[in-house]
Amino acid sequence: MRIKVAASLLSADFSRLWDEVKRVEDDGVDIIHWDVMDGHFVPNISIGPCVIQSLRDKTKLPFYIHLMIEAPDRFLDTFVDAGGDAIFVHAEACPHLQRTVRGIKNLGVKAGVALNPATSLGAVDQVLEDLDSLLIMTVNPGFGGQKFIPAMLPKIREAKRMVDDRGLDVDIGVDGGIDEETAPLTVEAGANLLVIGSAIYGKKGLSVKRLKEMLAK
Ligand code: DX5
Ligand code: ZN
Repeated sequence: MRIKVAASLLSADFSRLWDEVKRVEDDGVDIIHWDVMDGHFVPNISIGPCVIQSLRDKTKLPFYIHLMIEAPDRFLDTFVDAGGDAIFVHAEACPHLQRTVRGIKNLGVKAGVALNPATSLGAVDQVLEDLDSLLIMTVNPGFGGQKFIPAMLPKIREAKRMVDDRGLDVDIGVDGGIDEETAPLTVEAGANLLVIGSAIYGKKGLSVKRLKEMLAK
């Protein structure tokens, strides 16, 4: 499977967001990953739909919206209207996950489910067929720049096995602490969608082009 890199803007310079999008677009990024936080589901507040909408017409890159919010059903259409091409909800925030996933698909966009590190794959077992992506959180969500949790590697492997055994076309994503060192480990385990924030936008200044070349070897 082709490796896709999604740039998480959480660690970008918010005062010049457009430049930060343009820079990664020129560097071969496939997707812009928007981290939406409500201060309840995670202990942080980030950006909302108006900010996302303000950049929608400025790039052709798909927007993947990672909703780290309680009761996301209330806002699915809002984030599709803001320009989301894929909406990710957390299994932990959705008591009726199948309904929520169908709700996303009915809006005509891709559906993804994210799992916190402590949530097992059983949470998506019954909805896997309906998903376009499964996002394995490799940190506890809420902040950029956290350390990758190596115990997630067997979970990535197991997720890949579930998807392959059923012959499904579901991206296996990883989000949190992905950099030059951890990306190859997750790809080897079966991930094909890498969400990267601070490694790109922080001091490391990771080049997406170079990372992709490295992973292709
Ligand atoms: C964490 C967010 C991530 C985060 C990734 O709550 O969902 O998308 O921004 O950032 P890094 O790559 O710095 O861990
Ligand atoms: Zn994210």
